[in-house]
Amino acid sequence: MMSDQILLEARNISKEYPSQSGGPALTILNDVSLTVNRKSLISIVGASGSGKSTLLHILGGLDRPTQGQILFDGYDISTYSEDKLAHFRNTSIGFVFQFHHLLPEFTALENVFMPGLISGKKMEEIKTRASSLLGKLGLSHREQHRPAQLSGGEQQRVAVARALMNKPKIIMADEPTGNLDTKNTGNLLDTLLQIREEEQVALLMVTHDMNIAQKSEFTYRLEEGALRLG
Ligand SMILES: Nc1ncnc2c1ncn2[C@@H]1O[C@H](COP(=O)(O)OP(=O)(O)O)[C@@H](O)[C@H]1O
Ligand SMILES: [Mg+2]
Repeated sequence: MMSDQILLEARNISKEYPSQSGGPALTILNDVSLTVNRKSLISIVGASGSGKSTLLHILGGLDRPTQGQILFDGYDISTYSEDKLAHFRNTSIGFVFQFHHLLPEFTALENVFMPGLISGKKMEEIKTRASSLLGKLGLSHREQHRPAQLSGGEQQRVAVARALMNKPKIIMADEPTGNLDTKNTGNLLDTLLQIREEEQVALLMVTHDMNIAQKSEFTYRLEEGALRLG
């Protein structure tokens, strides 16, 4: 069946912020719809301030829409309680942000296995998985280092490993190379594409990289609150 292909479906999403001064509300997203198939690569481009992060946060259950539905595996996550949403994010979605958001007082290995710990898995199992992921990302020798001891590129690769920890069905990456130089940008993007193949995960990415856009199943542009193909 065609619908089995669909992982994530956003239907008529709007996001408004009420005005502080009694004026009209600020509309960030206006009737946005989007479908993400399993294991697909989708990219989103748009000017700074166009609402890309807002959209990604809503799709991933980090923020709620003013209107509309988000169906994930057929379930409407916009009806979930905060607890259920937190569980959903922990198990189904891997986030990679522009800034790594690693916990500074923990080692790379601990940062990577943290989502596994939160989901209640056994320590032995999560350490093995975390170690294997860091290996895949070329960071075996960095397991015991803290984020401050790592380069920007290494920090982002740890963040990618952490995002994969609980075997999510989708990675949502929000300008993951925005803070990296050209060389590290190329490395991280190659890594994300390779990991997507190996882990059989969908990748929804906010990026300006033309190479990623070319390899994407769909590239969307967010402009004046509307999402359009191309
Ligand atoms: N809590 C908020 N209240 C009002 N406006 C907000 C709030 N959060 C974000 N915005 C506005 O939403 C717009 C889109 O922001 P964002 O999603 O971060 O854009 P992008 O990621 O494309 O740069 C910006 O104009 C921003 O100022
Ligand atoms: Mg943003």
